[in-house]
Amino acid sequence: MVTPEGLGESAQVSQSGGVKLLEPLNLGVLQAPTRIIFGPHETNLGSGRSISADHVAYYQRRAVGGAGIIITEEASVHESDWPYERAPLAVQCAQGWAEVVAACSCEGSLVLAALGHAGGQGTSHWSQRELWAPSRVPEVNSREVPKWMEPEDIAQVIDGFVLAARLAIEAGCDGVEINAGQYSLVRQFLSGLTNQRTDEWGEDRRLFLTQILTAVRGAIGAKKLLALRLACDELAPWAGITPEQAPDLAAELAVQPEQGPLDLLTVVRGSIYSVSATRPGGHTPTGFNLELSRAVRAQVRSATNDRVAVAAQGSIVDVDQAEWALTDGIADAVEMTRAQISDADLVAKLSAGQPSRIRPCTLSNQRSQVRDNRNPRVSALGDPFSGYETKDAPYATAAAHPVELTVVGGGPGGLEAARVAAIRGHQVRLFEASETFGGMVRVAAKGPGWERLALLVDWLEAECRLEGVELINNHRVTPAELAGHVILAVGGRQGLRGYEEQPGSEVRTAVEALDHPESLPEGAVLIWDPIGGPIGVALAELLAARGVEVHIATPDNIIGNELARSGDLAPANARLLQAGVHMHPRMLLRAVSAQGATLEDRFSAQKQELPVAVLVDAGHRLPNDALEQDLVDISLVQACSVGDCVAPRSIYEAILEGRRAAIALG
Ligand SMILES: Cc1cc2nc3c(=O)[nH]c(=O)nc-3n(C[C@H](O)[C@H](O)[C@H](O)COP(=O)(O)O)c2cc1C
Ligand code: SF4
Repeated sequence: MVTPEGLGESAQVSQSGGVKLLEPLNLGVLQAPTRIIFGPHETNLGSGRSISADHVAYYQRRAVGGAGIIITEEASVHESDWPYERAPLAVQCAQGWAEVVAACSCEGSLVLAALGHAGGQGTSHWSQRELWAPSRVPEVNSREVPKWMEPEDIAQVIDGFVLAARLAIEAGCDGVEINAGQYSLVRQFLSGLTNQRTDEWGEDRRLFLTQILTAVRGAIGAKKLLALRLACDELAPWAGITPEQAPDLAAELAVQPEQGPLDLLTVVRGSIYSVSATRPGGHTPTGFNLELSRAVRAQVRSATNDRVAVAAQGSIVDVDQAEWALTDGIADAVEMTRAQISDADLVAKLSAGQPSRIRPCTLSNQRSQVRDNRNPRVSALGDPFSGYETKDAPYATAAAHPVELTVVGGGPGGLEAARVAAIRGHQVRLFEASETFGGMVRVAAKGPGWERLALLVDWLEAECRLEGVELINNHRVTPAELAGHVILAVGGRQGLRGYEEQPGSEVRTAVEALDHPESLPEGAVLIWDPIGGPIGVALAELLAARGVEVHIATPDNIIGNELARSGDLAPANARLLQAGVHMHPRMLLRAVSAQGATLEDRFSAQKQELPVAVLVDAGHRLPNDALEQDLVDISLVQACSVGDCVAPRSIYEAILEGRRAAIALG
């Protein structure tokens, strides 16, 4: 598997000399100014089913930041498709597309409109009508059985692609991208997994797509771009598209449209059983699709006399790896989608010769996984203003009245407060009680798959130093040392324990266990995880990898219940099972003693004695508000608290509140 480590000198964009990522890319008669693409993704920024002003600002921000190509959120080409509440519908997008083009073209970015239909992977909830699919294969997640599409339904959808493409081009878009990726009706027709028809559409499973490509090329003409997003590995070798078949399939499709071949083909993976594999979290190596892309590109370039460009995609979040993908012949362009959600100025910083200043994407999927029951809008863990461009003003402006600011606490909230205050011209010093900066994030980063979290606090610390913040570690501040403007970011403390602790019992917090797993008593461990978030699961994986017998118990019906929000629920349960972790769902923890723990089934009330050497409590924490209370009576101090010391939540809220507190200084 390809990793950014160990790349040759030529791949290091920090070296002097040309950077291929920044070279223009010729596509048909058009030219993208750079080879870095902001890929299509669901944002929940829509207004009804239209492209909204929030969308326009979101894309404009990436265009200003230098993205070479911006591919807008997929628009459904036919009213039979309404996969989520704010899913754009092509016939309602013309004005929005025109506004996106007006906002982005002047920055040099090419704008493509993504077009698609979710088919059987949609939902009938919003459309209040049946799902359409090639065959009656129940949807894996929703369990809905779709309607078998009649030939006239098929004709309507092909017409829908043509109409949508015309509208996009009339709106000024530089081209369109047809989605035959993981989440698409087109892939459902291409794949033996979902196309079990015996008519012409099943005998030739490529027919649906080739008809769409030919018709759309006819509609948009040769001067506009025709791009294809193609699932090249469905991770279902018994019937799906395999990496072995994909190069031939891609090459054949690239030359198919009669009036002119494709211009761009993007290699993706995933299918009905592996939706989360398209944009996995940190448990999957970065650039996991690169070797697949290399094979596809070789065939496509050879079949088209180097006419068709191939884009690589999939957890490409480091510019060194992206550069290597181009210089090593893996791809002609790279999609860096989450990387540019996390830092809209990625390309601009690269162009300025400052790649180390790019805010890293941690591959946490914590804020850029938008399809959950809260219907959240897209954002980024490290940049909470991402996705909120119309709501939050740019903060890198000089304060009218610079002040002296003391920040107490060097976790993400404190570091962000210090960074932003310093950018705005305030004189800032930050005190941290421990040796290292980064707070709980450093501890969380010790969990397998969460290592990239450390990059975010490394970045915050480095940016603070560059902006002139005085960083003081190993210093526990007393109220007597504080005066003037103070931001408190002192984090949380151990929460209440709702179980009996009998004499001789060994109980540790999850923080202690993650930070120093070697200090746990020898023997089996029970992790009590009433939250169901990443910490309990990460700890179980860490300890199991150290050869410890691990049990994990939760009141929920499933271990790691909250991981559904980041797409990691099923993968996490698979990893725990494979690591031999013993799972105890639906449990209440009643007591812990020298002999072990007493669990009680929530539904049957049946008790179980679990002989473990130590209990690790991964439960809720409480705010560390002691310093805030000490400061109440000190009238000279204007203090404001942020992050976990207000209420323990995630890194996102800590950074958001730290930034807001810095902006509020004026
Ligand atoms: C917020 C978000 C929403 C996405 N929604 C979709 C989607 O609806 N359909 C789809 O096929 N891919 C979707 N994707 C996947 C992206 O198109 C892209 O393949 C993925 O982000 C991997 O690229 P990256 O690692 O550069 O982010 C989404 C990605 C993100 C970050
Ligand atoms: S939420 Fe996580 S995965 Fe998404 S952009 Fe931010 S750091 Fe990257």
